[in-house]
Amino acid sequence: MPVLNSNLQMLGADEVLASLRALRARQPVKFSAFYSSQLGGVVTDPALMVLPFDDHMVHRGHGIFDTAGIVNGRIYDLEAHLDRFLGSAERSRLKLFGSREEMRQIIIKTAAASTLRDGAIRYWLSSGPGSLELSPAAGAQPGFFVMIFGGLSYPERWYTEGLRVMTTTYPIKPPLYAITKATNYLPNVLMQMEAKEAGLDNGVFIDEDGFVGESSNMNVAFVTRDGVFRHPKFARVLPGCTSLRMLELAKGLVGRGITGVEVADIPVADARGASEMMLLGSSVKVAPIVEWDRQPIADGKPGPIAKALLNLLEEDMRTGDRLVEVPY
Ligand SMILES: Cc1ncc(COP(=O)(O)O)c(C=O)c1O
Repeated sequence: MPVLNSNLQMLGADEVLASLRALRARQPVKFSAFYSSQLGGVVTDPALMVLPFDDHMVHRGHGIFDTAGIVNGRIYDLEAHLDRFLGSAERSRLKLFGSREEMRQIIIKTAAASTLRDGAIRYWLSSGPGSLELSPAAGAQPGFFVMIFGGLSYPERWYTEGLRVMTTTYPIKPPLYAITKATNYLPNVLMQMEAKEAGLDNGVFIDEDGFVGESSNMNVAFVTRDGVFRHPKFARVLPGCTSLRMLELAKGLVGRGITGVEVADIPVADARGASEMMLLGSSVKVAPIVEWDRQPIADGKPGPIAKALLNLLEEDMRTGDRLVEVPY
């Protein structure tokens, strides 16, 4: 890290670009393509994937985002992710950048420009630059950004051995913020850091009434002792696209491993007695949790239903009817 040992340098555009390139050389990132409405197109050089500092998404968190997966050159469940994106925008009182279809086309074309056939698309809507106030600046243009990257990856052992989680000491978000995918992930970040520092894999939010919430960037679900696939209500947790799809797909397992599918308030005490506990999300897909607050879930081994659900989801991602071809 450079230290301040003389007068601050005044930088010109060339020097800034050189510094941005040096930053990426010190800390290489694998981002394949980035669309920015502010730049007016797509860049593939990570040094150029930048936002003005006065964009309100940067300094006030007035922005939203969503992430969809690219599987075998096709985008999975894009409409569900766009539905949630538009819902988040409305609740955040953000102006849209163009119509849903225009944003959809930009997402698909940026994916094509990236040439990436397996990875993730994360896209953001910001209230735009123009001031350091709280409310959007007068005449601010909403910003729309799309990043194509390899996606988040998790250790193989999460799937073979299962995860160990803890109840976080951080408070759960109130309903409005929990169901809105805004760029305010402070509780989520702190929860994950806390768990890692405790030598565990992730945390779980519990609400004030003692009902199970969600994890850092994933939903949590259970299989009860009598075989019901049980998911928390979507009041204090993000309505995960994976969870919503899984609740549909899981119906195919009724009579073939599970006895029913239920969305309910889940008291922690009931949850601890489950026969299976798992994480669900676009990045993690389905991963078994085998230990919670240092206590085993059932026999402390990954269960068959989490595995069956993962298979169903992977099948849906490969051959289902929710795939959009990327025109590479
Ligand atoms: C807080 C939170 N909960 C749950 C999820 C799971 O949602 P999805 O299945 O759409 O990835 C995510 C990820 O987007 C998240 O950030």
